[in-house]
Amino acid sequence: MSAQSATAVACANIAIVKYWGNRDDALRLPANGSISMNLEGLFTRTRVTWDELRVTSGEQREADSLVINGRRMAGDGLRRVSAFLDLVRKMAGIDARAIVESENNFPAGVGIASSASAFAALTLAASVAAGLDLEPAALSRLARRGSGSACRSIPGGFVEWQAGTGDEDSFAASIAPPEHWDLADCIAVVSAEQKPTGSTEGHALADTSPLQACRVADAPRRLDLCRRALLSRDFDALAGIVELDSNLMHAVMMTSTPPLFYWQESTLTVMRLVREWRLGGLPVCYSIDAGPNVHVITEGAEAGHVADLLAAVPGVQKVLVAPVGGPAELVE
Ligand code: PMV
Repeated sequence: MSAQSATAVACANIAIVKYWGNRDDALRLPANGSISMNLEGLFTRTRVTWDELRVTSGEQREADSLVINGRRMAGDGLRRVSAFLDLVRKMAGIDARAIVESENNFPAGVGIASSASAFAALTLAASVAAGLDLEPAALSRLARRGSGSACRSIPGGFVEWQAGTGDEDSFAASIAPPEHWDLADCIAVVSAEQKPTGSTEGHALADTSPLQACRVADAPRRLDLCRRALLSRDFDALAGIVELDSNLMHAVMMTSTPPLFYWQESTLTVMRLVREWRLGGLPVCYSIDAGPNVHVITEGAEAGHVADLLAAVPGVQKVLVAPVGGPAELVE
């Protein structure tokens, strides 16, 4: 067989009811379900080529190759991708090595997590190039094995990842298309540094917090409120649940052993201002992932104004604005 290639593009996503902690680390089965929106314009484009040449000549398969934004990767980054590609090799019944070339269009080093868009694009490109024709649910399930949040970057728009009972029923599906509600995420970048503790290690610490069991037990209620606020386009209801959910996750992080503190001074400044702006009538709420940058969700019509307000806050280095994005797609 000659080399088979495919290229896919997938958006990043922001969770508005968050995933933190796994029931099963290897399968990345989450402690709780989550809801997110895809971020249009912040994407990863990945080309995968399965190279069978070495195998047909009887030699042992050479290592996969991985180039991200023009840089050849080795070590843990390559091992994680190769372990994921092993799943695709097994499903497709092939033993080829993969050549993976990937680019994030969002500025490098702004501290925006790329694992969701990266593993979603890799899932689609690698499976199609391997000759697999997976249903959306199967693609999402496979992406979950690379990075939990990646399963939410396979479908488009507003997305819910069901915690499920096992591998089979733990995947994400769209609950509303992007055009359902003109929202935007204005990302206030307060630090471009690499985060000290990545989410894979962070998930493993979640159960050491005495608050995690509470957070998980209450998740179905928050998911229900968030789903209803989204479907009825009720911004005030959405704001209350989004901020509560983010605060709960950070309370778990701060009370883990060892504790994880992702916020910086400017993170708290933005959180305080967002609450003040909302009291003043502006539709805004905040959500913070495993890093110091603040995702400020607002209505599309206010996005320019909110971005200007954020850019003027001391400590904010840059603001990225993303409307609601579509599903992962194959491209030429
Ligand atoms: O998919 P991971 O392992 O990068 O975990 C994502 C964790 C959070 O971004 C903090 C929350 C979420 O649901 O996206």
